[in-house]
Amino acid sequence: MAKPKKRYVCQACGSVSHRWQGQCADCAEWNTLVEDVPATVFSMKHDLSSGGRAVEFVDLDKPGALPTRQPTGLAEFDRALGGGLVPGSAILLGGDPGIGKSTLLLQAAAKIAREGRGVVYVSGEEATAQVRMRAARLGLSDAPVKLAAATGVRDILTTIGSMDTPALLVIDSIQTMHSDTIEGAPGTVSQVRGCAFELIRYAKENGVALVLVGHVTKDGSIAGPRVLEHMVDVVMSFEGERSHQYRILRALKNRFGAVDEIGVFAMAGEGLEEVDNPSMLFLSGRDEPMAGSAVFPAIEGTRPVLVEIQALIVRLQSGATPRRAVVGWDSGRLAMLLAVLESRCGLNFSSAEVYLNVAGGYRLSDPAADLAVAAALVSAMADRPLPPRSVWLGEVSLAGEIRPVAHGGLRLREAAKLGFDRGFGPADVKAGSAAMTYDGLSQLANLVDRIIGSS
Ligand code: TYD
Ligand code: MG
Repeated sequence: MAKPKKRYVCQACGSVSHRWQGQCADCAEWNTLVEDVPATVFSMKHDLSSGGRAVEFVDLDKPGALPTRQPTGLAEFDRALGGGLVPGSAILLGGDPGIGKSTLLLQAAAKIAREGRGVVYVSGEEATAQVRMRAARLGLSDAPVKLAAATGVRDILTTIGSMDTPALLVIDSIQTMHSDTIEGAPGTVSQVRGCAFELIRYAKENGVALVLVGHVTKDGSIAGPRVLEHMVDVVMSFEGERSHQYRILRALKNRFGAVDEIGVFAMAGEGLEEVDNPSMLFLSGRDEPMAGSAVFPAIEGTRPVLVEIQALIVRLQSGATPRRAVVGWDSGRLAMLLAVLESRCGLNFSSAEVYLNVAGGYRLSDPAADLAVAAALVSAMADRPLPPRSVWLGEVSLAGEIRPVAHGGLRLREAAKLGFDRGFGPADVKAGSAAMTYDGLSQLANLVDRIIGSS
């Protein structure tokens, strides 16, 4: 038999390389490649066309027995899930440490348990006393959640197998789990994958909704378990700035629903509170217009969210390299916008420090925010406030054109409902609201003329 080829697996992202390297070629983490011997080496000579069991086929419209969604009782969680937990499905919940994953799941677990459905919450990170302390603080101590501190997957599955099948099983976190059939320490790719596989199989066979908590690495992907993303049915991320109150629950993948709805929560003294109308949360709330501030009308699923973008430009006297710092937006996209403003509009940022912040800890990824960012930058540069109660939308191309965006008319109508009466964006959008004066701009240079040239 041929000698098995050596392979090395990155412990951060799971990518495989046939040569050891100090840095992973995929995720650029250092010292994460570890040798991995495949458990079985298949010979190509196996004949798989006989000796198997017959597979049963069913019609798509076969009546009856479709799993029904079970609401968690937290409306914002259900909204992000697309209507509730699907029995027999696996959900991966990722997020930075301390963002509130355990709090969210404990609250959901308590709600479900109070309705008389079985809930098992296994913590591999905290002792039961710690989880009970949190429950007491959240006023959930009376909920009949079955709580355990354990890390052995065999122990967990044996125990659950001998009791009434729960409706929900929470594993906090998958990186702390350990399977005795697999070599390696908890948190390695093979352990994480193996433990998740066993737990997911249990969930599918028994119609249990399974939630796995996954840690996130520096680059924002769920650590190690990037391999888990295709094993599970739903991938959710819990986002926000720890120093801010607001948290956003977003589905990145959902086999049973749309991925554009978000759940919005506020972290308070008594846990996470649901925010059912987030449209004005990410505005600073001041009345006086200020230079460097622009409002972008975002759409999250079916809900409008107005987001304030703040820019600050500091002129440097010396020849030091100017800093560019961004919170809540992509720094590559900022570099691109600055380059377009320089080359197409004649502005000069080369001796200026540029700071960009999205208010309230919100993260913007919509390309339609380009124009609002550009407006904030130009307004900061010129030290002139933008028109009061104005919103800005549009994607900016490298040629400096302002390009159409999805749901332009809807964004403007929603902004008008919230009291905004000026809109700026691509030429072909119909404001569709008598309360809104809309200016179509075709080039970024038009925007610069508006802000600097007018008056
Ligand atoms: P936690 O759920 O432990 O985060 P994760 O599981 O994602 O690591 O939440 C930890 C943070 O939440 C902690 O810094 C304190 C804060 N918090 C509150 O502000 N209020 C509360 O009622 C609770 C339980 C936590
Ligand atoms: Mg936790």
